[in-house]
Amino acid sequence: MDWMKDTAEQLKHGAFLMVKGNPMTIGWGQFGVLWGRPTFTVYVRRSRYTHELLEQTNSFTVSVPASDTMKKELSFCGTKSGRDLDKMDALQASLFPSRFNAEDGFDGCRYHIECRILFRAELPEHLLEDDTLLSRYYADGDPHTMMIGEILGVTEV
Ligand SMILES: Cc1cc2nc3c(=O)[nH]c(=O)nc-3n(C[C@H](O)[C@H](O)[C@H](O)COP(=O)(O)O)c2cc1C
Repeated sequence: MDWMKDTAEQLKHGAFLMVKGNPMTIGWGQFGVLWGRPTFTVYVRRSRYTHELLEQTNSFTVSVPASDTMKKELSFCGTKSGRDLDKMDALQASLFPSRFNAEDGFDGCRYHIECRILFRAELPEHLLEDDTLLSRYYADGDPHTMMIGEILGVTEV
């Protein structure tokens, strides 16, 4: 399916993880089948405002830009925190209304992958069996929480 191939490719440059109207740029993401359901898993560090927002909801939406588009927005949403400002307002961007009862997406993206959270787990970094990665990614702590979402629906725009 094109949306899976395109999303896997675009994650190298970034996509938007949308929770309660706050966009956060993500580079990590995984498709799969778990418990017999189609899933998309995201990885969010404990320090992110998005992590706090995810504790207040049971859904998220991943909005995926077409290749070579929305670079300014991806950079902004990957360096600014929703704790300090309203990123959608600052970018004069609009929400793409949810169609499958998850979260509103980022208008202007090519795909909106709407998910309901099935499972959350913080990754214990001491279990990472590669010291180079351990020191590169977790020197200051701040572990990732894995959020496994059941894909409720994908909208292609
Ligand atoms: C290309 C790119 C990919 C990123 N991927 C992730 C990711 O997968 N998980 C994560 O926790 N942070 C990731 N970040 C960092 C967050 O986007 C960044 O800390 C953001 O400001 C957090 O926003 P928030 O505080 O509003 O949640 C990435 C940043 C960039 C630029």
